Amino acid sequence: MRALILAAGLGSRFRSKKAKVLHTIMNKPMVWYVYQTIKELNVKDIGVVVGHQAEEVKKIFEGEDNLLFFTQKNPKGGTADAVISAIDFWRDYQGYLLVINGDNPLVKSQTIKNMQRYIHLVEEYENIKLSALILSSFFPDPTGYGRVVKDSQGNVIKIVEEKDASFEEKQIKEINGGVYLFYSPHLLNVIFSVKPSPVSGELYLTEVINLMSQRGFVVRSFMAEEQAEVMGVNNRWELAIAENVIRLRIIEKLAKEGNTIHQPETVWIEPSVVLEGDVEIEPGVAIMGNSRLGKGVRVGRGSIIQNSILEEGVIVEPYSVVKDSYIKSGAVVGPFAHVRNQSVVGERSHVGNFVEVKASNIGNQVNAKHLAYIGDATIGDRTNVGAGVVFANYDGKKKYQSYVGENVFIGSNSLIIAPIQIGSYSYIAGGSVINKNIEGGALAIARAKLKVLKDKGKEKLTQSEPGGI
Ligand code: UD1
Ligand code: CA
Repeated sequence: MRALILAAGLGSRFRSKKAKVLHTIMNKPMVWYVYQTIKELNVKDIGVVVGHQAEEVKKIFEGEDNLLFFTQKNPKGGTADAVISAIDFWRDYQGYLLVINGDNPLVKSQTIKNMQRYIHLVEEYENIKLSALILSSFFPDPTGYGRVVKDSQGNVIKIVEEKDASFEEKQIKEINGGVYLFYSPHLLNVIFSVKPSPVSGELYLTEVINLMSQRGFVVRSFMAEEQAEVMGVNNRWELAIAENVIRLRIIEKLAKEGNTIHQPETVWIEPSVVLEGDVEIEPGVAIMGNSRLGKGVRVGRGSIIQNSILEEGVIVEPYSVVKDSYIKSGAVVGPFAHVRNQSVVGERSHVGNFVEVKASNIGNQVNAKHLAYIGDATIGDRTNVGAGVVFANYDGKKKYQSYVGENVFIGSNSLIIAPIQIGSYSYIAGGSVINKNIEGGALAIARAKLKVLKDKGKEKLTQSEPGGI
């Protein structure tokens, strides 16, 4: 089998500057899903017809081999014109050509396998070589789709597009799903006889079916297992619906693989995410990009994990954001924490309430439990970062690094001004402003001396005219 994806069209119903197939579902262009489906079939020869915004469409497939691009000169030429544009891909081919609309992201590879099987069975038991097999479904409201017209034996005579359908034809509920298996020699026999539609001037691929039937070739339709599979995405509302279908499919698969997902209707997990098992996801969580969550990880309500690795047993408490970072096993992040820009949080460390960690390397068993900013810092094992500690990494022009050793105690509300080094086992007294290197084992204290004036407070509070200090 060879496969051809039609992705040259404009998608005017999207009312967008961007070509339709570039619009994303779970952060991947919709045509990417079509390509994945074909890849699952182990098809070696894959063609893509591009036209409108061809360069951007090609970019989606960067790094993929076995892919040939064909340019449709007039992206309004119609679906048959698109297939003709790729004639070099299939003209001499003696097998079945899978043609699939690029705006049909929901079809499953298993369904296409079943279609292939059906072709074999018909060949074997009925002695009929099918010229085309069309994926179809019954829609209660078929508006907008091509209708499948059959004869009394159940063979397809033609497909009528909505615009051209008579009143009777419009009552037909079986619709063309935009996924076809064509026997290439028979497709070649008819495709150049397709005439432009009198309504739109386009060459419709569906006309091929009418011509095949007229020439005595046998065409059948094949019922999709799931109605959604034949859904074309023609506008942004259909995009939202398709996204929901794909989102739930991903979650269903992950759940069946042994991960618990609470309130799946509120959870967003992108297709490239890996959950290694026994992961627990609370409501309202988003896990994006190339994230990998190890065994037993728990992600609390409302958290966002993006392009990050969470090792075994990590707990992300509610409403935390982890981006482009690495959280080692047993660490706890959050609630309300933000870890970003290639940060590493070591084993069994705790980055807690309202703590931001940026481009920092935090060792093992480090505690930074409340209200801190750790930016461009390296922090050794077992160090304690008190509440309200700020690493001042920016002087208004440049960013600087801080190095903190092991077993350091940084008291609450200290300001660590980078560039700086703080040695192991040193002790920074709370409220200190530290702008010089501190050697290991030292106690550093830098704050205004406390004055206590006896009875002065009460005196001030009881004065008739309140005054400041
Ligand atoms: C098409 C079918 C319709 C079917 C429906 C299923 C035709 C004439 N009609 O209608 O019977 O029910 O899909 O979803 O085929 N494209 C090109 N070049 C073009 C025009 C389109 O490459 O000149 C591509 C588009 O990028 C798109 C796909 O072909 O990915 C389908 O085109 P679209 O205009 O969406 O066809 P429909 O009107 O939905
Ligand atoms: Ca369509």
